[in-house]
Amino acid sequence: MAISERIQTMMSGSSFIRKMFETGSELKNQYGSENVFDFSLGNPSMRPPDVFNESLLKAASDHLHHAYMPNAGYPEVRTSVARFLSKEQHVPLTEKNIIMTTGAGGALNIILKTILNPGDTVIASTPCFMEYKFYCDNHGGTLVLAEGTEDFNLNVSAIEAAITPQTAAVIINSPNNPSGRVYPEETIKELSAMLSRKSRDTGRTIYLISDEPYRKIVYDGITVPSILDHYNNSVICTSYSKDLSIPGERIGWLAVHPEADDFENLISGTILCNRILGYVNAPALMQRTIAELQGVSVDIGQYKKKRDLLVDELQKMGYRFRVPEGTFYLFVKAPGGDDLKIVDELLQERILVVPGRGFSYPGFFRIAYCVKDSVIEGSLPGFKRALKRIEK
Ligand SMILES: Cc1ncc(COP(=O)(O)O)c(C=O)c1O
Repeated sequence: MAISERIQTMMSGSSFIRKMFETGSELKNQYGSENVFDFSLGNPSMRPPDVFNESLLKAASDHLHHAYMPNAGYPEVRTSVARFLSKEQHVPLTEKNIIMTTGAGGALNIILKTILNPGDTVIASTPCFMEYKFYCDNHGGTLVLAEGTEDFNLNVSAIEAAITPQTAAVIINSPNNPSGRVYPEETIKELSAMLSRKSRDTGRTIYLISDEPYRKIVYDGITVPSILDHYNNSVICTSYSKDLSIPGERIGWLAVHPEADDFENLISGTILCNRILGYVNAPALMQRTIAELQGVSVDIGQYKKKRDLLVDELQKMGYRFRVPEGTFYLFVKAPGGDDLKIVDELLQERILVVPGRGFSYPGFFRIAYCVKDSVIEGSLPGFKRALKRIEK
């Protein structure tokens, strides 16, 4: 075998999300894309807002700035992010707290590389985005899963039970992919208090990594609680992939709490890791484009309409789920209990969804509704027929 056994194993167990995406491409070739209802990937169909295009054109007309830069990113862009984030998080930040990254994925990788020793563990709460497993493994760590509560909140006692002296961090993701759950402020307080106590007990700082690419995609007046406000040893990883509909542009940032333990080393470490992981720096043109777009997003009202349409129609048919407070995902209980079975039945209707086991949560399936309204409308008869067949 020419390639590494580890990568060979990873490829054979590769992501359900990607598998469904590939099946979708085959079906589209066979039946035409208008006859396939693809809810597999969190790839926003909405166009970026007009101000994004205006800012991009302005940035592109500036011929001087295509050179290497400090690995942390342009200082003026980091200042702009810090100014916005200080208000949002109620903690004063400067450009020293911000590193520009290649999306949230890049941010997660540089913080994990910075803090993990071989054999360390990182805890996440299920259901969760399972790329975390690969990201931890990339840097010699292991992802340990703690099951969330039945209503998809964090189970702080389960997280506490998973902590050992090898625990370097806990990753949370709110609004959550795949459940759409926003963790309440009370839970964040409880988690922070527990992490402070366990850090003292184990004699080791346990960092809280908050993965927040969906922060702006929330409904019904909900706000996502500040993380920095509650826990000093916290790091935010995020991107503009989802809220500006630009995942292919790979732009995001990482923010470190100004009072984090070992702050100078932590920041210097992430800057070094941005370089040595080969990212070098976040894309220059995109940094300049997003600098003045802090707080801007696509029209979240459109996602709310899509959520409401899907929620109303699926509820009427008899599907069961918790109405999501944010993201563009609906996490539905698998009728009959078997997530692979419903995914298969839906596939026969040319509807592509992802089984819950792809998020370490069997018994559910995920619908990514960041699609055109016509895809949702066209899929409804198929959802109904698939449910009928399972209930027979
Ligand atoms: C929870 C979560 N974190 C991180 C990412 C990666 O986002 P990015 O495109 O910014 O790397 C995704 C993408 O789907 C996600 O759902």
